[in-house]
Amino acid sequence: MTTQNKTAVVTGASAGLGTAYAQRLADRGYDLILVARNTARLETLAADIRSRTGRAVDVVTADLTDAAQIAVVEERLRTDESIAVLINNAGAALFAPLASSDAAASAALINLNVTSLTRLTTAVLPGLIARGHGTVVNISSALALNFLPGGSVYSGTKGYVLTYTQALQQELADSPVTVQAVLPGAVRTEIWDRAGVDLSGFPDEAIMSVDDAVDAAFAGLDAGEPVTIPSLPEISDWESYEKARQTLVPNLSLRVPAARYRG
Ligand SMILES: NC(=O)c1ccc[n+]([C@@H]2O[C@H](COP(=O)([O-])OP(=O)(O)OC[C@H]3O[C@@H](n4cnc5c(N)ncnc54)[C@H](OP(=O)(O)O)[C@@H]3O)[C@@H](O)[C@H]2O)c1
Repeated sequence: MTTQNKTAVVTGASAGLGTAYAQRLADRGYDLILVARNTARLETLAADIRSRTGRAVDVVTADLTDAAQIAVVEERLRTDESIAVLINNAGAALFAPLASSDAAASAALINLNVTSLTRLTTAVLPGLIARGHGTVVNISSALALNFLPGGSVYSGTKGYVLTYTQALQQELADSPVTVQAVLPGAVRTEIWDRAGVDLSGFPDEAIMSVDDAVDAAFAGLDAGEPVTIPSLPEISDWESYEKARQTLVPNLSLRVPAARYRG
């Protein structure tokens, strides 16, 4: 994925993985559109990337959970013909037992992690298909596969991102557009503070740096992996998991209930 005079859109570019994606995409020759709520941080990053790489960088301040604000981003994705890459990275986490959780906070998380990602992908796809090239990267999480107490809503949102991406990959199999799902484990970013979780309680060997996580995600993309799990030593383990799922498929919809359910 190296190109000139093309634009990459990075959501959640003001911090963490999104900032690293923006820097690497600029290094790969892309102009950038950086999206998040914090304008000052986006402007600082944009200035740094412009002076370091000479790329053109636009800042779009938007709360992706706000209907009017996401509409501005969708319009840009629909109409800017230079756009070749969308990194759906903006996201947040919530960790709380569901019975004591705030339903409005869960709905807001679903809006950000699920709805906005779906809307932005829907906005960009027709143009990418028409132009005959394009890449969408959807940031899921290892918690899409590892379900823990207190993580039902977060794991649910990230499970959506994985399933959605895999279904989309089927749909786009014969198209020139690539869609990758990335499932990082714990990465040292602000997301944990924002979610009120102290990362110091995690073993150091379970936490990856932002740079390593994003470098691995790009290596997976360059290798043509549909699903990249940065820390997974053996890709064959993921492939076995997928194969097991596919083994279920022929029997998931049959006229007759399974024998064990019949009297
Ligand atoms: N860090 C991890 O351990 C980890 C592991 C697996 C997956 N992930 C996923 O990786 C992605 C990036 O997370 P991160 O760890 O880099 O977190 P982060 O450092 O907290 O960054 C999150 C980014 O999303 C933006 N954002 C949050 N709410 C937004 C909203 N309503 N509208 C627009 N932008 C919003 C934030 O910017 P503003 O505050 O300026 O809006 C920020 O740029 C997320 O999807 C996360 O779920 C992270």
